[in-house]
Amino acid sequence: MTAGILGLGHYVPERIMTNKDLEKIVETSDEWIQSRTGIETRHIASENEETSDLAYEASVRALSDAGIDGEALDLILVATITGDMAFPSVACQLQKRLGATKAAAMDVGAACAGFMYGMITAAQFIENGGYEKVLVVGAEKLSKITDWTDRNTCVLFGDGAGACVMGQVAEGYGIKSFELGADGTGDTALYQENELIRMNGREVFKFAVRQMPESSENVVLKAGLTKDDVDFLVPHQANVRIMEAARTRLDIPKEKMAYSINKYGNTSAASIPIALSEEVQNNKITSGDNVVLVGFGGGLTWGAVLLTYGRGD
Ligand code: UT7
Repeated sequence: MTAGILGLGHYVPERIMTNKDLEKIVETSDEWIQSRTGIETRHIASENEETSDLAYEASVRALSDAGIDGEALDLILVATITGDMAFPSVACQLQKRLGATKAAAMDVGAACAGFMYGMITAAQFIENGGYEKVLVVGAEKLSKITDWTDRNTCVLFGDGAGACVMGQVAEGYGIKSFELGADGTGDTALYQENELIRMNGREVFKFAVRQMPESSENVVLKAGLTKDDVDFLVPHQANVRIMEAARTRLDIPKEKMAYSINKYGNTSAASIPIALSEEVQNNKITSGDNVVLVGFGGGLTWGAVLLTYGRGD
């Protein structure tokens, strides 16, 4: 049995914040932000729009795309570091709102790599026959833990959610290999203090430009494939320069890499499922494509998957 993607969906809040808007808040410039990160705008949730609301909107779209109801779900995993509250989990809130009465539910905490951890966890349940349908969501309202006085971080982040229904797919499709990792000694590079994000940008950058290419290459080799077999790369959207490092290592053209950081900034655990959902929606990723998903985040954590997109039915 192989686990794969049955449906995808994403949602971002309506309000757009531009780099020019940020120029009014901190000492920065549109030119600096664009040239150092690739970010032009980000979406920011309203006061009464919580992480679970973003997660819900993305999940409804993913369920509809998969052609199933909440009742069909066996498990809900939500990757987030910005849950509405410590408990109940966002996953439990979703379980209620989706009417997923028979689903178990929990949040997954691996920061920006959370969606990769969630997806790979889901695959284990599906492939060992324990569960048939698992909803994996990456959802963040980073704006509520952003220090809006710190120009080193506040220009980077945005809010949003992406969701994916996973289940068994036909032979030849689905997840072919994965890699997960963590390095707790990097706990001072990116962390939360007094409820706000703290980051040593250069440290995270150095780690990411090493890890993203390495993990991307590892999953290709583990799947018994070569770089030439890779059709599309969906990297965590943290910084275009980091994304480029992964793309260059896989030796694939620019148009074969998901690129939405310009519109949404870094949405942490939501960035990979949002990017994947958009590329599928725009027919850039189609059935049979070999896709590398790769992410990294605070912890430090990282994860990658090579999957052949599609259900094969
Ligand atoms: O999901 C994971 C989350 N985190 C990341 O992915 C972050 C990874 N790191 C990065 O993306 C980059 O390190 C940053 C975009 C955060 C920073 O880019 P950089 O090229 O590494 O810049 P830097 O930290 O070396 O700073 C260069 C200069 C500094 O000034 P001095 O010390 O050279 O005078 C900063 O103070 O740029 C200054 N600076 C800014 N200037 C204008 C830092 N932030 C800003 C800003 N606007 N927003």
